[in-house]
Amino acid sequence: MARPNTGREQWSSKIGFILAAAGSAIGLGNIWKFPYIAGENGGASFIFVYLICIAVIGLPVLIAEILIGRSTQRNPVGAFRKLSGSKFWIGVGGMGVVSGFLILSFYAVIAGWAIGYIVEAVAGNFAHYDTGASAALHFQSLVTNIPWDVGYFTLFMIITMLFVFLGIRKGIERGSKIMMPILLVLLIVLMIRGITLDGSEKGIEFLLHPDWSKINAQAILIALGHAFFTLSLGMGAMLTYGSYMSKKDSIPSAALQIIILDTVIALIAGVAIFTSVFAVGLDPAAGPGLIFHTIPAVFAKMPGGYFFSILFFILLSIAALTSAISLLEVVVAYFVDELGWKRKKAVLILGFVVFLLGLPSALSFNVLSDFTLFGKNFFDLVDFFASNILLPLGGLLIAIFVGYVWGFSKVLASLREGAENLFDDYPYIISTWKFFLKYLSPVLIFIVLLRSLGILDLIF
Ligand code: PHE
Repeated sequence: MARPNTGREQWSSKIGFILAAAGSAIGLGNIWKFPYIAGENGGASFIFVYLICIAVIGLPVLIAEILIGRSTQRNPVGAFRKLSGSKFWIGVGGMGVVSGFLILSFYAVIAGWAIGYIVEAVAGNFAHYDTGASAALHFQSLVTNIPWDVGYFTLFMIITMLFVFLGIRKGIERGSKIMMPILLVLLIVLMIRGITLDGSEKGIEFLLHPDWSKINAQAILIALGHAFFTLSLGMGAMLTYGSYMSKKDSIPSAALQIIILDTVIALIAGVAIFTSVFAVGLDPAAGPGLIFHTIPAVFAKMPGGYFFSILFFILLSIAALTSAISLLEVVVAYFVDELGWKRKKAVLILGFVVFLLGLPSALSFNVLSDFTLFGKNFFDLVDFFASNILLPLGGLLIAIFVGYVWGFSKVLASLREGAENLFDDYPYIISTWKFFLKYLSPVLIFIVLLRSLGILDLIF
């Protein structure tokens, strides 16, 4: 039965929350990034390490973030203000809001390309580019075309704003309930297409054959860093979504379901992509260019490629959209809760600000391509600063806050709400969570952060 919606909005059901949060987690990270980093870093052995990172750090920090949100029913800044009041911790919340602006600004650029590629697929353009090199040239000609590059970025921002504009239940929850099942079906169709191609076994072998020689400190740190990005941790997205959660629902069980969905989707995406790439004999190690350089050439060679290429880029766009919505919601929730803005006004103004901030990122592939700092263009700089520094730093501070600052008896009392059975029947699960959150997570995240800052390069 739908729950009444009085005062601050709430998800209408637990599944509504899970789908929205899974929508935030499942994004470009799963479909674009995970397959190629797994491919580059030892396939099955990397996946094994990644799963450990998800379990040991991802799950404990995810629970902590949702808990802060649900206990305070606030955006990241308001949440820390309510729980601690110290300027430092309020600043940590503020860092999350800033991360939301920054990540959305470059994320929407790639997401815009995904939409542009739906149009390319429908127009049948990929059929002309059946080698990786020609597909890469085609990509170059598109992103250097400013109206194309900026136009689709703008379109993607407008669609994202529309969902956030409509609010929690009517926009985000309803959108996720429709889009997430579509995403899953599309991905399964694409996986079946991949597996049934001649020669697909080589792709499965590549992905699942363990190569332990590739598991070094660097690979472990990549797995750890990715665990953060893919679960949308460290910037308050899960905190903000948690703030619309009912106290009747169990946080640990919701967090576990979100993590399972995110992981399963990443694995299916890996299988779908590598079976196809191997079956048509293209280069699996194309790195970040895999999706836009290699995949179109894969579809050019695959039976039924016209149809499957359309499905693939719709899938990629949906995945990116539900993540972008959560990024914009963090920013909007701050202005609504703290500054008393109306949701609609906040969406219009802040969406426009993100658009302005994203322009130099969109232009990094054409007019601004020569502008570099520390060897990175504007796009890479914002990506690196937000994903590799702000997210781990935010995650570290969230783990420390819940583990040490908030007061652990209060933490437990709050976590217990909705999860009474778990507390009574499996107390050791709760103590394991406490151990991971207080000791393991902060240390491991700290090491990732040192690596991002380049401090560990001297050692490894
Ligand atoms: N988790 C998203 C992905 O995998 C990215 C994201 C990061 C979304 C941080 C929100 C917050 O693509």
